[in-house]
Amino acid sequence: MDYEAVTDFEADDETLSALPQIGEGEVETTLRPRKLDEFIGQPRVREQLELVLESARRRGVPPDHVLFSGPPGLGKTSMAMIVAAELNAAIRITSGPALERAGDLAAMLSNLAPGDVLFIDEIHRIARPAEEMLYLAMEDFRVDVVVGKGPGATSIPLEIAPFTLVGATTRSGSLTGPLRDRFGFTGQMEFYTDSELDLVVRRAATILEIEIDRDGSAEIARRSRGTPRIANRLLRRVRDYAEVRADGHATRKVVRAALEVYDVDELGLDRLDRAVLTALVRSFGGGPVGVSTLAVAVGEEPTTVEEVCEPYLVRAGMLARTPRGRVATAAAWEHLGLPAPAGVTRGEQGGPNLFDQE
Ligand SMILES: Nc1ncnc2c1ncn2[C@@H]1O[C@H](COP(=O)(O)OP(=O)(O)OP(=O)(O)O)[C@@H](O)[C@H]1O
Ligand SMILES: [Mg+2]
Repeated sequence: MDYEAVTDFEADDETLSALPQIGEGEVETTLRPRKLDEFIGQPRVREQLELVLESARRRGVPPDHVLFSGPPGLGKTSMAMIVAAELNAAIRITSGPALERAGDLAAMLSNLAPGDVLFIDEIHRIARPAEEMLYLAMEDFRVDVVVGKGPGATSIPLEIAPFTLVGATTRSGSLTGPLRDRFGFTGQMEFYTDSELDLVVRRAATILEIEIDRDGSAEIARRSRGTPRIANRLLRRVRDYAEVRADGHATRKVVRAALEVYDVDELGLDRLDRAVLTALVRSFGGGPVGVSTLAVAVGEEPTTVEEVCEPYLVRAGMLARTPRGRVATAAAWEHLGLPAPAGVTRGEQGGPNLFDQE
């Protein structure tokens, strides 16, 4: 797949990373929900999308362009595939970083058949000239191809087939206004509840033929950071453990023992989360501190800290984003086994996801 080849996620070997890991593509494809009613969770996005698609189906036209935004591993790519499947349409897949030159996009657009779905992953990383070409394509199903150079250059308008653009982004905040405005519908993906993740785990266990008890799947769900990709990965690690060290059956006891081996803590925090919290508390007295300073302190890119680590820490009520910088909540101090200084607030469990709103 195009997208597999161009994706430049830094794959690491972290069990709890929300980013896809090397070699995981195949099993993720097996576990991807194919239709809207197979998709667990995201009730709001599902209902809204259902209406958009059904109304377009009835009118016999391609639906409005659709954008999915939210942290990694919550099902944006799955949703994009579902849009095409529900429309019985062909899907062409590319990504923002792959569209460096407007010509790349023009080639893609002029190959579309009527009603096709064009999926652009990481659409916030699209290069400027390609983005400008996209405006006209989205609005008028037309592109202007520039032929020649200098004063002799002419621009030739080229009709393209009516299509539906599906974009996915982990940073809707860094989309330009004009691009954002051209999507008729934005599905904001939220973290999953424990009971939704429990369903995700049990569905995957059925597909992969893993025997797991009800309280075993609940235990995995609880430690999966609100993220189906992580839930599915933890399930596979539990299977490994159950097969090698037990009789293959994943009871709660087996699950707990397995997750201990893989260093997954009770809250599902991983090493980077703990490093960020530790730096925030120990080196910066609990903040406020800017995200780039914090990133340097843990030896990571600011975007990794911002997009991968913080959303879940905020949701878990450990970290707050304030106009003056990042602040540790009392829960963070406690989690690290330290007394919180006077005046530090508790933070709100399941608080708002401020992730995309900077
Ligand atoms: N609602 C769901 N039900 C069951 N499984 C899911 C669901 N959402 C996601 N998954 C599982 O999680 C995996 C990751 O989902 P997906 O690739 O769609 O996430 P994403 O939001 O596109 O992530 P990224 O930002 O890294 O591209 C899927 O392959 C699938 O196995
Ligand atoms: Mg994706």
